[in-house]
Amino acid sequence: MTFRDQVIWVTGASSGIGAALAPLLAAAGARLILSARRPRLLDQIRADCAGENVHVRTLPLDLEDLDSLAAKAKEAETMFGRIDGIVHAAGIGQRGVAAETDFDVDCRLMVINHLGPVAITKAVLPGMLARGAGRFTVVSSIAGLVGPPRRSGYAASKHALHGFFGSLRAELVGTGVKVTMVCPGYVDTGFAETALTPDGTPMGRDGPTRRGISVYECARRICRAMEYDERQVLIGGREVLAAYLQRLAPGLLARLMPRLSPP
Ligand SMILES: NC(=O)c1ccc[n+]([C@@H]2O[C@H](COP(=O)([O-])OP(=O)(O)OC[C@H]3O[C@@H](n4cnc5c(N)ncnc54)[C@H](OP(=O)(O)O)[C@@H]3O)[C@@H](O)[C@H]2O)c1
Repeated sequence: MTFRDQVIWVTGASSGIGAALAPLLAAAGARLILSARRPRLLDQIRADCAGENVHVRTLPLDLEDLDSLAAKAKEAETMFGRIDGIVHAAGIGQRGVAAETDFDVDCRLMVINHLGPVAITKAVLPGMLARGAGRFTVVSSIAGLVGPPRRSGYAASKHALHGFFGSLRAELVGTGVKVTMVCPGYVDTGFAETALTPDGTPMGRDGPTRRGISVYECARRICRAMEYDERQVLIGGREVLAAYLQRLAPGLLARLMPRLSPP
């Protein structure tokens, strides 16, 4: 696919992976709608995209407000008359063992990381089906393929994305609407800082993500996966090997996992 004149809606565009993707997609000719909760940061990212024939709009939203998302999707569709693709990059992390984590934290992770993207997907899908073209690019995680410690709610929410979008992909065969699953390992963003601790407060400090690959490298790989219509892409350093071990040697992975997944 080519990005020229494609209308692409990027969630999680106020920071990290979504924010790094926006200028790349804009430079490649896409028309962008940028979403997240913080409007000022979205305006900043829109300014970073500036250039000749660049069209970028912002649409602040909160994925936790599930009831608002269908209306947000309608608003997004009116901005450029259609949505050709969505990059679901918004998400929140977790640090804390399951035995000590409030159930409310599990619910929030499921809403923000899974149900919010599902609600948006269902709202834009009819338009894509009517036009016979579209793409959902879903930023999952290696934790969507394996179960690392201290991330039970996060891993559950990311595994749920694979279940939903795997079934959706099967239903979309022959419609022109495609699904690309993106599974990063560690990417150098502030993701760990906002990770929910057992009582729901943010962790407030950096974690192993800061030792990960650069966010620009990750964004470039995501663009390539979209361009080449990749079904699923693993992005990162050695930690992505966990996804292969899960299939080839699950017993070995279970023994190694505590060491592979630092706090
Ligand atoms: N960094 C990594 O190592 C890594 C590894 C694997 C997967 N991932 C995945 O990559 C995606 C992006 O993470 P990142 O590393 O770029 O971290 P990030 O910089 O913290 O980005 C998270 C984005 O999600 C948005 N967001 C969070 N809660 C939201 C809500 N309730 N409603 C709407 N937007 C919300 C944030 O914006 P606001 O705060 O402005 O709302 C922000 O734009 C996530 O889905 C994450 O699971 C990251």
